[in-house]
Amino acid sequence: MHNITLIQGDGIGPEISEATMKIIKAAGVEINWDIQTAGADVIETEGKPLPDRVLESIKKNKVALKAPVTTPIGKGFRSVNVELRRALDLYANIRPCKNIEGIKTPFNNVDLVVVRENTEDLYAGLEEKIDDNTIHGIKLITRSASERIVDYAFQYALKNNRKKVVAVTKANICKMSDGLFLDSARNVAKKYEGKIEYGEILVDNLCMQLVQNPSKFDVLVLPNLYGDIVSDLTAGLIGGLGVAQGANIGKDCAVFEPVHGSAPDITGQNLANPTALVLCACEMLNYIGEGDASKKIQNAIYKTLKEGKFLTKDLGGCAKTTEFTDEVIKNLK
Ligand code: NAI
Repeated sequence: MHNITLIQGDGIGPEISEATMKIIKAAGVEINWDIQTAGADVIETEGKPLPDRVLESIKKNKVALKAPVTTPIGKGFRSVNVELRRALDLYANIRPCKNIEGIKTPFNNVDLVVVRENTEDLYAGLEEKIDDNTIHGIKLITRSASERIVDYAFQYALKNNRKKVVAVTKANICKMSDGLFLDSARNVAKKYEGKIEYGEILVDNLCMQLVQNPSKFDVLVLPNLYGDIVSDLTAGLIGGLGVAQGANIGKDCAVFEPVHGSAPDITGQNLANPTALVLCACEMLNYIGEGDASKKIQNAIYKTLKEGKFLTKDLGGCAKTTEFTDEVIKNLK
């Protein structure tokens, strides 16, 4: 029996969490879910969107599965997602992006990994009002965090039989901040000379090349903001946010969560694609030593997508979340 924190989130979060728990149970893994609420709903009763009990639960269990939590746009409380990553020092956000058989896209040989720095950059939340018409936002980049994430990217490449790590910046314009990230990347890259190839690219050029020829990229390592944006782009290369998985990894704990948000436009309609969260759960199962169950669930997901009879609306089908989930369970062998 594993103790795992589950943040069901809001928007489509509860629907896809329900689907994921059902699939894991059907695969025979016993999990004692420590369900923790966060976000706008708990502010009234607990005074803040990310209560300490959530952090304590993750620190105790070391592992969490997390569905999306809505962040108010242009006003309101600070993102629970960003705060959680910062508070637990989940410094590496890993977002693999590989074509899935059965999902039609303009390319069929995409296989790359976005490694996003997860604790600083413009996400540090250092904004101040100068006057009604002027705001300062601080882009925080440190050598220690930059070297740590680049090293993670190289280690990831080594462990996963990848060939090349490319550092992505806008160091031609942000000469000091992105310049420091780039300098850190170059320093770390020296350690891996002869083992893993190293390259550099400007983020705007990367975006253009990703939509023209994504198969040329392997592991990308980026500061926080570029990583966030580029990983939505790369999700689009393999069928969209409904299938894009991710993980936040720290020294002491890991929080597995999809790339996508709470999808308010389809909330409560049984339309959400649970694939991304289920694939996150598979990575989580690997992490806790349940590799066989992980493989079994992955195979069932891929079989369901390949057969194409029960695709959700985002993939061009008309299956409800619950119908897709039942089909995945049927395909568990
Ligand atoms: P979003 O990712 O929620 O939605 C973008 C588009 O993708 C929408 O059309 C949505 O219907 C679709 N989509 C996303 N996930 C899907 C799924 N599983 N199945 C089918 N379609 C799916 O991004 P948006 O609208 O920019 O953000 C909504 C809210 O989510 C915001 O408050 C944002 O801050 C929050 N958010 C939370 C994240 C997290 O909890 N880690 C990450 C990204 C956004």
